[in-house]
Amino acid sequence: MTSAGNAVEPFDAVDVIRTKRDRQLLSDAQIDWVIDAYTRGVVAEEQMSALAMAIFLNGMTRTEIARWTAAMINSGQRMDFSGLGRRTADKHSTGGVGDKITLPLAPLVAVFGVAVPQLSGRGLGHTGGTLDKLESIPGWRASLSNDEIMAQLRDVGAVICAAGTGLAPADKKLYALRDTTATVDCVPLIASSIMSKKIAEGTDSLVLDVKVGSGAFMKSLDSARELARTMVDLGTDAGVNTVALLTDMSTPLGLTAGNALEVRESVEVLAGGGPSDVVELTLALAEEMLTAAGRPEADPAAALADGRAMDVWRAMIRAQGGDPDAPLPVAPHTETVSAERDGVLSRVDALQVGVAAWRLGAGRARSGDPVQATAGVEVHAKPGDRVSKGQPLLTLHTETPERFGRALEALDGAIEIGDASPEVSSIVLERIE
Ligand code: URA
Repeated sequence: MTSAGNAVEPFDAVDVIRTKRDRQLLSDAQIDWVIDAYTRGVVAEEQMSALAMAIFLNGMTRTEIARWTAAMINSGQRMDFSGLGRRTADKHSTGGVGDKITLPLAPLVAVFGVAVPQLSGRGLGHTGGTLDKLESIPGWRASLSNDEIMAQLRDVGAVICAAGTGLAPADKKLYALRDTTATVDCVPLIASSIMSKKIAEGTDSLVLDVKVGSGAFMKSLDSARELARTMVDLGTDAGVNTVALLTDMSTPLGLTAGNALEVRESVEVLAGGGPSDVVELTLALAEEMLTAAGRPEADPAAALADGRAMDVWRAMIRAQGGDPDAPLPVAPHTETVSAERDGVLSRVDALQVGVAAWRLGAGRARSGDPVQATAGVEVHAKPGDRVSKGQPLLTLHTETPERFGRALEALDGAIEIGDASPEVSSIVLERIE
């Protein structure tokens, strides 16, 4: 027994760690206690890091993961959108390079009367954060109260904003700890982290975009399948209509990675243009969300083409203080990477482009660091494109030109030019329900 202050604790953290270290199953009571006690500060950071590493090394059963997820949900509040009188649908991506899909997707789905509460996060490491991207729009505000979220869902139909601190606070602490203890890329911990937030958010239906490839947490199709299966089962068991698409993240999505650059590209998609892979994935996810929300007959492609999705976007940005007509900021310094030979582009590596964008200032090394709105990488050609020697392939953008050197180092070997066309697969690789 351990005592903290006057309270008598029913377990000892060391025993819980030892259980998982020795490959035994954690009991429901141990899991409930360890998550609650960690949130209260009774289980110390070093004890939770040891437990996270034991889980990383020895795994958890589906029963343990479900209980761990429930305990994280119970660490905070749950949101309730039932008063809206409309079906709600949400999308969550496991994170990738150039993944701006939430921006066109939320207003697009809202066109059809489905409410889209997108509670989003900020970027950490080489993957960008949706809130950081939107904050490059002059005046736009990420933090909304629960009442403001409800009002915006009623009036506009879509809201993209910061998840409040009350939602799964255990995950907030644990995610920051995992980030500094090499325990992020672990299926039980990723699945419980994502699904605790999504279930606590209270959406009726959820579409998961599980990324696969160099720029994703899951590098192989098998590990992405396992993550998707685990999350779909957790959602379904909690009464959330959940499906997952496994999608390619071996090369950056679209032609931009970086905050304002990605907003610009998203607006192009909303205007009926934009890169084909971004349009394809936006439509695939919109169709899944609309089907899950009982609108399988809806035609999202038409709503992109005729400006209805753009109208909702503009209303959504305005509702949060942003000016959809204000020019987006542009970096004062650029540098170009050109093709070294004639041929067919066979690889533009997602992870390396993501790290370059991050080093240029688009991302942060520690939570709370500022990001540059204008920094990032523009990609001028995609795998399968024929290129000629000297043709610009990438443009690097930054406000601080001393960053070019390290960004260019990150790109070493990122681009391959061959003689034959590579096999270019569809962006959606598999569907799991
Ligand atoms: N996103 C999350 O919210 N949690 C993880 O563990 C990984 C990605």
